[in-house]
Amino acid sequence: MDLPLPLIIWDGSNMTDQDMSNRHGYVQDVAEEDDNFASATDRAYSFRHPTVLAGVVWKNPVGTASGTFNLDACGRFYDVSQLGSVSTKGVSPVPWEGNPVPRSAESAAGTVNAVGLQNPGVDVYLNDELPRLKHLGATVVTNVAGHSDEDYCQVVEKLADSPADMLEINVSCPNVSSGGMAVGSDPHALERLMKKLRPLTDKPMIIKLTPNITDMTEVARAAEANGADALSMINTFVGMRINTQTGKPIIANITGGVSGPAIHPMALAFVYRVRQALPKIPIIGIGGIATVDDALEFLYAGANAVEVGSAALIDPTAPLHIARQLDQELDSRPELAELLKKGQTWPLE
Ligand SMILES: Cc1cc2nc3c(=O)[nH]c(=O)nc-3n(C[C@H](O)[C@H](O)[C@H](O)COP(=O)(O)O)c2cc1C
Repeated sequence: MDLPLPLIIWDGSNMTDQDMSNRHGYVQDVAEEDDNFASATDRAYSFRHPTVLAGVVWKNPVGTASGTFNLDACGRFYDVSQLGSVSTKGVSPVPWEGNPVPRSAESAAGTVNAVGLQNPGVDVYLNDELPRLKHLGATVVTNVAGHSDEDYCQVVEKLADSPADMLEINVSCPNVSSGGMAVGSDPHALERLMKKLRPLTDKPMIIKLTPNITDMTEVARAAEANGADALSMINTFVGMRINTQTGKPIIANITGGVSGPAIHPMALAFVYRVRQALPKIPIIGIGGIATVDDALEFLYAGANAVEVGSAALIDPTAPLHIARQLDQELDSRPELAELLKKGQTWPLE
């Protein structure tokens, strides 16, 4: 399905109510008329090729990337339990308002956003989104945000007895003034944080890495050595756009994070390098996936699974479409399918 609409950030910060309602109306019309959409959202489909990460089975290797999935919207159009996993928007100890608007700008092959981790806080998440996702049968990866080690600890402590299947610690956000990327770009800071977080929970812990660093393998090693069960990579690259009429930055935060097809080849190289350095730890490949081939490339580079982000801002069903197509592709690639099912990865030399 091809939605001829500009890339839109789900939190609606750059949209009017009319935009929102037009968009939902448009998607609803397509949902009713488009055979492709109907078959992609067919609730009876049974996936044949699971993957396993840190002991957690995903029914297929395709999840949503944090911040690009909206339960209220997607839950209306498809069965979210059909996704390999749902990675939620980052959750902080108290509600965060996020950055001032405008928070996003388009670029030639993607988007630049500085939403700033707007979210209602962990207590609301535990009482609202998480139970709804579990009720729908989703495999839930709860994304954890913090401005300090104490912030991360408070959230993880509260999630320890929750029904979340996995925790994804976001030490890679480029759009917050403290925490986030500052921790994820320093192996010592990450080690210090891991030593505090690891004793708080037995839940599988994924560390989400930043590409805004010269050698990601150092940070990846620090994560693994201090108890990370898996890595997800990559978060966005720092970028900006300028309005040439005014000579001013388009985004109020001045810089934001670049995502979308533009970053796919770089993300792939990061996954490949980290896999070569760390042969065992499960890796979730993220960055610019818009087609089944993009996803396959990550699996051949050494990822155990992938998450689809910005593509879902254009077509909310993109992760599901890609999951279905990948299931069919894996029928004709039994060797790769078998490795993923056993929690292993493709041995690219
Ligand atoms: C609007 C938006 C919000 C995001 N929010 C989060 C977040 O809360 N936590 C996080 O770890 N990553 C967040 N990300 C990063 C994505 O999860 C993903 O790592 C990145 O966009 C690259 O994937 P993509 O090119 O498929 O979009 C966000 C990305 C976008 C575009």
